[in-house]
Amino acid sequence: MTAPKQFASYVDANAESYIQRLAKAVAIPSVSGDAKYRQHVFDMADFLVNEMRSLGINVHKVDLGKHVLDGEELQLPPAILGSIGNDPKKKTILLYAHYDVQPALLSDGWDHEPFRLTPDPKTGRLYGRGASDDKGPLLGWLNVVEAHVKSNIELPVNLKFCFEGMEESGSDGLDDLIKAESPKGKFFDGVHAVCISDNYWLNDRTPCLTYGLRGISYYKVSVSGPARDLHSGVFGNTVHEPMTDLIHLLGKLVTPTGEIKIPGLANLVAPLTEEERKRYEVIDYSVADVEHSAGARVAISDDKVRVLTGRMREPSLSIHGIEGAFSAPGAKTSVAKTTSKGKFSIRLVPDMTPELVDPIVINYLEGEFAKLNSKNKLKIENLHGGKPWVTDPGHWNYKAAIKATETIYKKTPDLTREGGSIPVTLTFAEALGVNVLLLPMGRGDDGAHSTNEKLDRSNYIEGTKLLGTYLHEVGAISIV
Ligand code: BES
Ligand code: ZN
Repeated sequence: MTAPKQFASYVDANAESYIQRLAKAVAIPSVSGDAKYRQHVFDMADFLVNEMRSLGINVHKVDLGKHVLDGEELQLPPAILGSIGNDPKKKTILLYAHYDVQPALLSDGWDHEPFRLTPDPKTGRLYGRGASDDKGPLLGWLNVVEAHVKSNIELPVNLKFCFEGMEESGSDGLDDLIKAESPKGKFFDGVHAVCISDNYWLNDRTPCLTYGLRGISYYKVSVSGPARDLHSGVFGNTVHEPMTDLIHLLGKLVTPTGEIKIPGLANLVAPLTEEERKRYEVIDYSVADVEHSAGARVAISDDKVRVLTGRMREPSLSIHGIEGAFSAPGAKTSVAKTTSKGKFSIRLVPDMTPELVDPIVINYLEGEFAKLNSKNKLKIENLHGGKPWVTDPGHWNYKAAIKATETIYKKTPDLTREGGSIPVTLTFAEALGVNVLLLPMGRGDDGAHSTNEKLDRSNYIEGTKLLGTYLHEVGAISIV
């Protein structure tokens, strides 16, 4: 059963006010990874609580305690838990999304102020940090509720909401809340399935449903030595330089063609079967799509399956940055900083877990450092981690989403796994023992985490219809 016609008409008639809602949300720079922005993350939570209350959703904020960010103790942003409908004859669907965003500065190379939603009338693109990841999809659910409430359409399912403000920084505190609220009689009790809209199509034309995500292990490697910055003319070739040691270690991690150089990790990866290989062959994707999303002809391989498996079912190791590096203009000649800190992460696939991977990575780096005979000190920290997740796309939750996608986009969605991570996905699956679906709103070229992030107006508006139609399809399926 598809959604009643009035639902789609309401969405079309109110598209401008939905865009205004997104503009208000984008204007709040809720960057979770930077202590200076923490108040804005709280403001974003308040904005959502008000919006939800005005739609008749029962909502409360849950204090997740404190954490330490860059040496500073900070209050964690609250989890927002909400519910609407409590009909025992209906299924209950839990919707998860995150209201924090990645950092963004105009000086990073944005064409417009990142925290001001900037529509481009020619292309229909709505530019702004968080437009696609994940404020547009989060508001999509509120748009759906609004359309039902205002047009007097009965919601086809009971809804529960769990919105968090720390997803981009490792979801601190949320796992414990989910585990505490899952037993009988608690908030998440009675949920039949979970839907998360926090992913993207693979390209700009074919919708998809995602049934797997990679996990992650994120590391900081610090090399410390001299008590102060030193003159390289005086101390070069006389002291062990932290930056030199660090660069040497970082150079031991991954080859330029993406192969991880740490022995032992490859043994943890489940082998690719012929049957699984075929699943990648049928996906509507080409190397040109990767290069379009990346904005340059830089794909590692010309083989589509190699590119897809590299993203979806093989691990990857990326070096994110170096603290303590001289990065200003000019030609300073000191021996760089007393401590040089390198940051890198490994995306994990089944059967890797952070618990298995951590000792392998740490032992390897310690061994490589020992070979340098350096008198500097090495410290390796795991900043956060999450396990990979894969589910069965044959479940009714996926069947409902396939039908909804066909109704809205007139295309059968590709079934994909994704290279990114949403650590709570597995926590929900395990703690609630129910199926989790990833139902994307945005496109592969949205530029999540990048400069000029955008959401196409059509993806926001049709995506809102998709989310609502999915709920109606779920409502119509009988599960015994
Ligand atoms: N929306 C992404 C997850 C994602 C990325 C889904 C790519 C599909 C494709 C999410 O907001 C995200 O970026 N998560 C972080 C989590 C990490 C900090 C634990 C990520 O993947 O880097
Ligand atoms: Zn996201």
